Amino acid sequence: MRLTGKTAIVTGGASGFGAGIVRRFLQEGAKVMIADINGEAAKQLAQEMGDHATALRVDVGDRPSVQEMARHAIEQWGHVDILINNAGITHMPTPLEEVSEEDFDRVYRVNMKSVYLTAHALVPHLKERGKGVILNIASTAGVSPRPKLNWYNASKGWMITATKAMAVELAPDGIRVNALNPVAGETPLLKSFMGEDSPQMRQKFLSTIPLGRFSQPEDIGNAALFLCSDEASMITGVAMEVDGGRCI
Ligand SMILES: NC(=O)c1ccc[n+]([C@@H]2O[C@H](COP(=O)([O-])OP(=O)(O)OC[C@H]3O[C@@H](n4cnc5c(N)ncnc54)[C@H](O)[C@@H]3O)[C@@H](O)[C@H]2O)c1
Repeated sequence: MRLTGKTAIVTGGASGFGAGIVRRFLQEGAKVMIADINGEAAKQLAQEMGDHATALRVDVGDRPSVQEMARHAIEQWGHVDILINNAGITHMPTPLEEVSEEDFDRVYRVNMKSVYLTAHALVPHLKERGKGVILNIASTAGVSPRPKLNWYNASKGWMITATKAMAVELAPDGIRVNALNPVAGETPLLKSFMGEDSPQMRQKFLSTIPLGRFSQPEDIGNAALFLCSDEASMITGVAMEVDGGRCI
């Protein structure tokens, strides 16, 4: 029970990696808010998970929605200990000069602006308490980009730099900020990265992962648990690969 008494908001918590984090945090005694634009899926998962899980429909790219998320969490629990910026999207694999402006703006809004908006909504609260943990779910894409996922890759590179900038500025306030860099994972988003979900395409991706498998929501849940627990109290500003060796 490494998170007993802790409260955590997980954006995009209704699916994939976010749901893996939600499950792991609940197992370890945390109270968790599943903050997802898919309100129905969030509600379903919360119902399945029991009393310590709550669901809220949140659009992480929309300021009023993010502020409502923070207000709701603080009102419900009295305080927030952990914020996980996990919600993310991609454009389809496309030559960089052909990605539409609409797709670029979508990726920018969900993958980058959300980090700014959640910081505005929650950092004052964490500063007031003199403690807190923020975890950003970035990607190996931000370290070792694959072709044709150009603007997605760049958004994750931005997230890694934002993590380090936030970590150094917020350290005097007792707030730790870290990132995880997952490799391609078994979630509904995987198909969008591959373009098509075929055995050949899977093999192509797998051939770049030395441990020979995709990441799983449980892998990300376990790594998030460590970085958000007190066991990692001396760790801030890292972007930790959970990638089976892909970035070596
Ligand atoms: N799956 C992978 O291969 C992989 C690899 C590296 C990094 N990541 C990152 O991990 C994170 C989670 O991805 P996943 O694979 O679990 O994807 P997913 O599609 O399974 O889950 C993403 C969740 O985010 C929610 N969401 C989307 N837009 C939102 C918004 N505007 N506001 C609130 N919620 C929103 C979706 O409803 C969904 O529940 C993303 O940031 C992604 O970039 C994924």
